[in-house]
This record gives sequence, structure tokens and C-alpha cells, in this order.
Amino acid sequence: MTKNDILRPLAPADLEMVRSWRNHPSVRDYMLTRQEITAGAHREWFNRHRDDPGRALLVFECEGTAKGFVQFTPSLSAGVADWGFYTAPDAPKGTGRRLGRAALAEAFGRLGYQRLCGQALGGNAASIRLHEALGFTEEGRLRRHFFDGAGWHDLVLFGLLKNEWQESQRG
Ligand SMILES: CC(C)(COP(=O)(O)OP(=O)(O)OC[C@H]1O[C@@H](n2cnc3c(N)ncnc32)[C@H](O)[C@@H]1OP(=O)(O)O)[C@@H](O)C(=O)NCCC(=O)NCCS
Repeated sequence: MTKNDILRPLAPADLEMVRSWRNHPSVRDYMLTRQEITAGAHREWFNRHRDDPGRALLVFECEGTAKGFVQFTPSLSAGVADWGFYTAPDAPKGTGRRLGRAALAEAFGRLGYQRLCGQALGGNAASIRLHEALGFTEEGRLRRHFFDGAGWHDLVLFGLLKNEWQESQRG
């Protein structure tokens, strides 16, 4: 992460850009919901969640250009959240790492979470590698948990604690 990497709130003017990323096969093929998202459904999702306390819908920017999307969803337990994310389909390699570092600073800093959880399909090598590189621990694997219409996939569960992240910042 450089000082020019920022996360800012998703705004109405971003919706079409983020929807085009989310619908792109390089993103959609790794999601648990695979259907194309219509403009109406996307706007409805944004309006439903934009003011949710604890939930954060964020655009990742590098040097002033939007390069990805990050979402934090609070879990039932206070201080715990799930995250979801994707980079713009044309983002250069390395963007995921930068997005991840900015997201962890946001999660454990401003948002004050104590624990962050992630999930990746067993075949999503980039996401699994990224979670590992960011310091997440693989905490479980739900075997054959997701059917994509053609085959079954494991779901890999990741967790990272605030003190682990803080430790990694000192190193
Ligand atoms: C997952 C995602 C954010 C990674 O972004 P990225 O810019 O490709 O990631 P980076 O280039 O920073 O690479 C991160 C790590 O993953 C590795 N990696 C990237 N693509 C890979 C691939 N296809 N196979 C294996 N490893 C891969 C990189 O080598 C790097 O590890 P390293 O630093 O040890 O070398 C991006 O591919 C994406 O948006 N995918 C679709 C949506 C998605 O899967 N979101 C996560 C849902 S759980």
C-alpha cells in the first residue's frame, strides 16, 4: 500500500462502473451468486446498504483511479466482519495486494474490527494466495459446499485477528 492508495465510500456515480466489474466473467466466475446483476437490482442493493451501520461499501483508488471494490459486512458478533472484494478486470497485477493492505488498515483501524473473515472457492487460486499473503489463517474448508451448475467446489474459510495484523505491521 502506498500513501496514494485509498478506500472511499461507494457513491451513486460509481454504481455503473462497479456493476460492470461485478458482471465481468473474471469476477463473476468466482462469486457465489453468478447471475448477471441488473442496473435496478444493483441500485436497490446500494440503497438498502449504503446507510447500514457497520457495513462499508468502498471503492479502492490508486493514484486517483478507481481499481477495485471492497465490502465489509458485520457478523452477528460485535467486532467481527466478513469481507468481499474484487479488482477492476483491467487492473494490473499487484492491485489485489495493494487493495488488501488498504482494506486491512481500514478494517482494523477506522472500522475497529477485532476479527476479519474471508471465504474463497477452492479453485480461486488468486484469492487464496492473496489471503495467505495478507496473513490470514486457513481456519476451515467446507467440502463440496457450492454447486456452480457444472460441478462442486470447496469453500475455504479464512480468519485474521487484529493483533496478528498489528504484529505484521511491526515486522
Ligand atoms: C482475487 C483478486 C482480488 C486478486 O487480485 P490480483 O491483482 O490478481 O492479485 P495480485 O496480483 O496482487 O496477487 C496476489 C497474490 O496472488 C497470486 N496470484 C494472482 N493471480 C493468481 C493466479 N491466477 N493463480 C495463483 N496465484 C495468483 C499472486 O502471485 C500474489 O501472490 P504472491 O505475492 O505470493 O506472488 C482478483 O484476481 C479478483 O478480483 N478476482 C475476482 C474476484 C475474486 O475472486 N474476489 C475474491 C473473492 S473471495
